[in-house]
Amino acid sequence: TWSMDDFIEEQLQAIRDKVGDKKVLLGLSGGVDSSVVGVLLQRAIGDQLVSIFVDHGLLRKNEANEVMEALGGKFGLNIIKVDAQDRFLDKLAGVSDPEEKRKIIGNEFIQVFDEEATKLDGIDFLAQGTLYTDVIESGTDTAQTIKSHHNVGGLPEDMQFQLIEPLNTLFKDEVRELGEKLGIPHELVWRQPFPGPGLGIRVLGDITEDKLEIVRESDAILREEVAKHGLEDEIWQYFTVLTGVRSVGVMGDIRTYDYTIAIRAITSVDGMTAEFARIPWDILNEISRRIVNEVDHINRVVYDITAKPPATVEWE
Ligand code: XMP
Repeated sequence: TWSMDDFIEEQLQAIRDKVGDKKVLLGLSGGVDSSVVGVLLQRAIGDQLVSIFVDHGLLRKNEANEVMEALGGKFGLNIIKVDAQDRFLDKLAGVSDPEEKRKIIGNEFIQVFDEEATKLDGIDFLAQGTLYTDVIESGTDTAQTIKSHHNVGGLPEDMQFQLIEPLNTLFKDEVRELGEKLGIPHELVWRQPFPGPGLGIRVLGDITEDKLEIVRESDAILREEVAKHGLEDEIWQYFTVLTGVRSVGVMGDIRTYDYTIAIRAITSVDGMTAEFARIPWDILNEISRRIVNEVDHINRVVYDITAKPPATVEWE
């Protein structure tokens, strides 16, 4: 019978045979797939692997540090971290159309990656976290055309690489099992889905650093409370959205006119359909209180009780 240990041994050998003494490039996103590819390749070929991690400034609170510590620290991956926050913010300034924002983020991502890759000499291979489901779906991409999905790892057009895709026979749950076997931290292996455009599509309308900070802080509070109450395994995905709505409130004796945070939390199997998660009201109450008290410029919190369809999971 098929075992994950056999799979690891076979893959290590296959990677070594294919790569020889050449170098491999990998785009790390912080997600489970590229992390597993990185750790597997590191084990197979050590420092012949070079990884690029683009911080576009649209990640969650502490996320970039956690990725660097987990993969760079514990596993010793050689990671080039590109701090591209300002570039992305400049390009996004004043843009409020959701599709336009996605396109800008996707294109800028490829450009930053491309520029970094071009600086490196003697790379023959590009590793990617392609899954079996990606292989099946490619070519018949109808389901996702509702929104253009830009993911990490677009191929630089004028560079010639051979592809290494060690996960392309695996389903997502097998990738997670592989990740656990390789010793990758549990939180990283079981991370909830996070879209390529990141918090950029969770600030509705135009993006500023101040607004990103509001989403980062409120999202961190939500995640803390979900973890504290042991709800991670019941909720498929959960995050906050900064709506463009301002409304009147009162804090102490003072009238406020400030922004509304929406909480989105869903149960789902694959993200294609979803229902809102039945988070106990007491816990919602606690989350709401904390967000209003701890996050500046928020005086109202609402809970999104829409299923998908007709709503999508993300608000943009
Ligand atoms: P929607 O909003 O389309 O989301 O119902 C379904 C799932 O896909 C994620 N999502 C994305 N993932 N790039 C991604 O990699 C994207 O542009 C993107 N847009 C949505 C979303 O978080 C949910 O898990």
